[in-house]
Amino acid sequence: MTKTQARTTIMAIETSCDETAVAILADGKELLANLVSSQIKTHQQYGGVVPEIASRQHLEQVNRLIDLALKAAGLTFADLSAIAVTYGPGLVGALLVGVSTAKALAYSLNLPLLGINHIEGHIYANWLTNEKREFPLVCLIVSGGHTALVKLKGHGEYELLGETQDDAAGEAYDKVARAMGLGYPGGPLLDELARQGNEQAIPLPRAMLGENNYAFSFSGLKTAVLNYLNRAAQKEEEVKMADLAASFQASVVEVLVEKTMLAVKNEKVATVLLAGGVSANSRLRQEMQKRCAGEGIKLFYPPLEYCTDNAAMIACAGYYRYLKGDFAGWDLNAVPQLRLL
Ligand code: KG4
Ligand code: ZN
Repeated sequence: MTKTQARTTIMAIETSCDETAVAILADGKELLANLVSSQIKTHQQYGGVVPEIASRQHLEQVNRLIDLALKAAGLTFADLSAIAVTYGPGLVGALLVGVSTAKALAYSLNLPLLGINHIEGHIYANWLTNEKREFPLVCLIVSGGHTALVKLKGHGEYELLGETQDDAAGEAYDKVARAMGLGYPGGPLLDELARQGNEQAIPLPRAMLGENNYAFSFSGLKTAVLNYLNRAAQKEEEVKMADLAASFQASVVEVLVEKTMLAVKNEKVATVLLAGGVSANSRLRQEMQKRCAGEGIKLFYPPLEYCTDNAAMIACAGYYRYLKGDFAGWDLNAVPQLRLL
């Protein structure tokens, strides 16, 4: 086995929530393997992720995926340049599976270890397609656990502009979808249903809209939907679920778009990125596209398969940290509440 040093080949492991994922990325752009083993079916019956079950399934899957990823890439361990791993934020038991596996691999193979923030991974899903992104830029991060506007001045140089004061956008989607009886995970199901509804049918609040800041709040909107459902149930009135989905989606998306465009204007940037699971949302993509086209702003969002959790994005973030020589020590540990800033 000879080491192919010509390329920087990074293996990444992601186990922060309910997907076990392993990817191999060469030179930050050539995806040689990208495997995701989803636990959605297991957790569906409980209506959400059960942390203990998630950890156990990661344990069962991770080594198998590492072998499969090497096979898919046609490589051996000797071809790798570094091991990247998500060390937070996420479920502590789930994260620990990835972190201990990555540490054991890196140590035994004598390779550098890269500790990656999951949120940074979501941002770097935007670099997987290898189009040029010009700094400074604004990134709207919208996932199940986070909703924030971040300014990037360069690779790994972040400035937090604002974030949610309560629920994340994806969390609001999931909770509302659950109350509507749509199942788990609710975001994609609600997105789909909303396409058949009338968004003006049910007036819902748009929290913090019109305020000159980048703070978000989605718990009032969630409560408004729950109250609407409860009132209808008490009066034994039928709820048009598609109208409710469309009205909810219109409210979330309007706030996300307006706040992002406010940041673009105030921060004088010409490029916007979307990142995280909710960046898969059809209406968010559509509305952002319209607004950015109208104002001459460049908009990028990852291909659908890289919006939700995957290891390709962790490998990509790892590549830019590798270039800076920003390696983790052997004391790398899971940090469930890890922040980007
Ligand atoms: O980024 P992600 O995979 O996991 C976290 O890091 O949280 O995001 C998952 C979240 C879930 O809340 C899911 O419902 C939401 O992203 N999501 C969507 C859509 N696809 C996924 N929300 C709205 N519309 C979608 N199409
Ligand atoms: Zn995520």
